[in-house]
Amino acid sequence: MITQIIPKRILLANIPTPIQKISFEGKTFFMKRDDFTGIETSGNKIRKLEYLLYQAKKEKAGYVFTCGGEQSNHARATAFASASLGMKSRLFLWGKNSDNADGNLFLDKVLGCEFRFLSKNEFGNANKIMAEEKLILEKKGEKVFVIPEGGSSPLGIWGYIHAIEEMQAQNIFKKCNAIITASGSGGTTAGLLVGALLFKSDLKIFAVNVLYPKDEIKNKILSLAEQTIKEFRLPVKLDEKRLEILDGYSKEGYKHITNDKLSLIKKFARSTGIILDPAYTGKAFKAYYDNFLSARTPKTLFIHTGGLYGVFSKRKKYLLNYDE
Ligand SMILES: Cc1ncc(COP(=O)(O)O)c(C=O)c1O
Repeated sequence: MITQIIPKRILLANIPTPIQKISFEGKTFFMKRDDFTGIETSGNKIRKLEYLLYQAKKEKAGYVFTCGGEQSNHARATAFASASLGMKSRLFLWGKNSDNADGNLFLDKVLGCEFRFLSKNEFGNANKIMAEEKLILEKKGEKVFVIPEGGSSPLGIWGYIHAIEEMQAQNIFKKCNAIITASGSGGTTAGLLVGALLFKSDLKIFAVNVLYPKDEIKNKILSLAEQTIKEFRLPVKLDEKRLEILDGYSKEGYKHITNDKLSLIKKFARSTGIILDPAYTGKAFKAYYDNFLSARTPKTLFIHTGGLYGVFSKRKKYLLNYDE
């Protein structure tokens, strides 16, 4: 029985999130509003944190370490969720400190997080750096729980394995036969993939890679899914054909966004009242628009994974006038 395998979680997210029917440019499609999972903790990451922070509390951690870009939604959600459970956070961020911090970094500062800023090269060794700092703190008697980039570990991705069960209960798979989401560290996609194998095996998962090149993210997703299947002895076999990477939507780089995407984000906001972020959902939506919105009623469900605070870090770009 699958219920015997499911790890325990702590309830942090406002779920189930609604699935809305959206009309845009004469087309109608479905959007899962995972940007509604919370406020300080909004977005996809809080689903993973329910499992990870359960474990952190169980291990009686006083500190939570995690890493990401300086505008990391994951780092911000981790810091706020940890604070709500009485734990301090130290964030290892790829980027620079700023007295004028905006968006997620601003919120991290308001919360009083501890920071270590890393160069891009150092960020490649973030796990090692976090492990070294963990040892130092532990010598001082602290208990530290380390969460890898994006909360993407076999335990963390249960957040999105569970989301598939949630969507099935919402009956959306009668109308949709595929899901599309932005893929950063790959955990959300890996969770959806494993969840699909467990609960809805004919479902296809499309991932829009915003951070890593196509082959690298594909390998990350598949190996994380495989590790999870092994670790939890899940009664499924990985099927690579269920996964497709839609490449080429972040050629400008993870920390940037092109004007054509911003123009689409603004058009979409003005006709639906829904805002998309510059690093993840804005890029994923452009992929959705190009690949699926040409159909009158697309059967692919778009997951809005949050990222609202990232908008403020790009306020000048959002306010520029493009060909609108
Ligand atoms: C808003 C948003 N969407 C999507 C993602 C991608 O999730 P994952 O890292 O699990 O691939 C992230 C990750 O930080 C995110 O913040």
